Amino acid sequence: MTVSRRDFLGTAVVGSLSLGLLDPKGYGRVSKTNEAGSSGKLPIMISAHNGLAYLDDAYAFLASGGDTLDAALRVVKGPEDDPNDTSVGLGGLPNEEGVVELDACCMHGPTRRAGSVGGVRNIKNVSLVSKAVMNHTGHVMLVGEGAERFAVAVGFPRENLLTDHSRKIWLLWKEYHSTQDWWGPGLADPHWQAPDAKPQSELWQERFRRLEEHAADFGIAPELRQEAVHKVLFPPTGTIHCSALNTKGEVSGCTTTSGLAYKLPGRVGDSPVIGAGCYTDQDVGSAGATGSGEENIKVAGAHTIVENMRRGMSPQEAGMDTLKRIVRNYNNDMNKLRFVDMTYYVLRKDGAYAGVSLWESYEPGKPHTIAVHDGTKRSEKTVALLPGASVDFPATPRVPAEVMKEFK
Ligand code: GLY
Repeated sequence: MTVSRRDFLGTAVVGSLSLGLLDPKGYGRVSKTNEAGSSGKLPIMISAHNGLAYLDDAYAFLASGGDTLDAALRVVKGPEDDPNDTSVGLGGLPNEEGVVELDACCMHGPTRRAGSVGGVRNIKNVSLVSKAVMNHTGHVMLVGEGAERFAVAVGFPRENLLTDHSRKIWLLWKEYHSTQDWWGPGLADPHWQAPDAKPQSELWQERFRRLEEHAADFGIAPELRQEAVHKVLFPPTGTIHCSALNTKGEVSGCTTTSGLAYKLPGRVGDSPVIGAGCYTDQDVGSAGATGSGEENIKVAGAHTIVENMRRGMSPQEAGMDTLKRIVRNYNNDMNKLRFVDMTYYVLRKDGAYAGVSLWESYEPGKPHTIAVHDGTKRSEKTVALLPGASVDFPATPRVPAEVMKEFK
């Protein structure tokens, strides 16, 4: 049976009048709408695309009775351990000073607890540290040096998180800014030229070529050079979220990231913010986010989605409504919104789910996807609010289109 939002609100009002406004059960009412992409099968796990490779093992653990949060953590630990994932954990792209700083949080539905860490250096598995904060402190959030010292105290090893590859990309980023600061060759460089010396398209072609040359100088393998240059010009946000629901209806979620590449030291994004990067309510479901952290914090994305579902929206409607709030924050200005990228992962406690994104693709031809496992593992395209692709921010705004086309 489909219950519209209006019907649901009507029922909820009547319910609250007859049961009394303080009835705790009233806080967990959700509609039973289903939608395409909702298998209704339990257990179920959903995650960002970079969790796909880790879902089989985590799903087997969950299906055999494992805890929902531990199952979700098994997924996000994969990219944290993977030095080739430059958006999470070991090998994450560093801040502007070349130091990797990580953020993570988790929420355990059955016990209604949460843990979080922000701006952590030298510890790879910050998702597990956020669980340790939840389990072993009376706090919810630890940041910076205190979080690192806590992690070491409870047994996490300190290690250098800046891989050689990420360091070289960071060096290339420094190089790219060399006309605006003291990094890279200066006025004495035979290739130096005044910014207005040539038409923009020629300057950009030259810039791309020189960045590729510098990538070669730094020892970046030929097949990785274009990707490295791309990561310099369009600093990526990357993150992983995972939510898990078992056959008992228990639900948990977690999110972990190295945050925005080349960020200011101390910048903390949405991922460790309970209610932005992740939010789980045992009565309703779980939601998480990847993308432009600053924008997501301003709409308290994950919390807004869960509350939308509590009020009767389907997972897809709840996510779309939250994306529309981001659009509203910029008064529908597409010139600004094209620099915003946001994907939400939404799991309701009856197993209905949705992956929604602001833009269809993160690059032309590369659609946003979510990973799902409910007995069958798969990757599904998100439902997008806007057609087309976003552009990463901070942007290289004046790259002429013809040069960009050639470069890609
Ligand atoms: N969503 C990841 C970040 O902005 O840090």
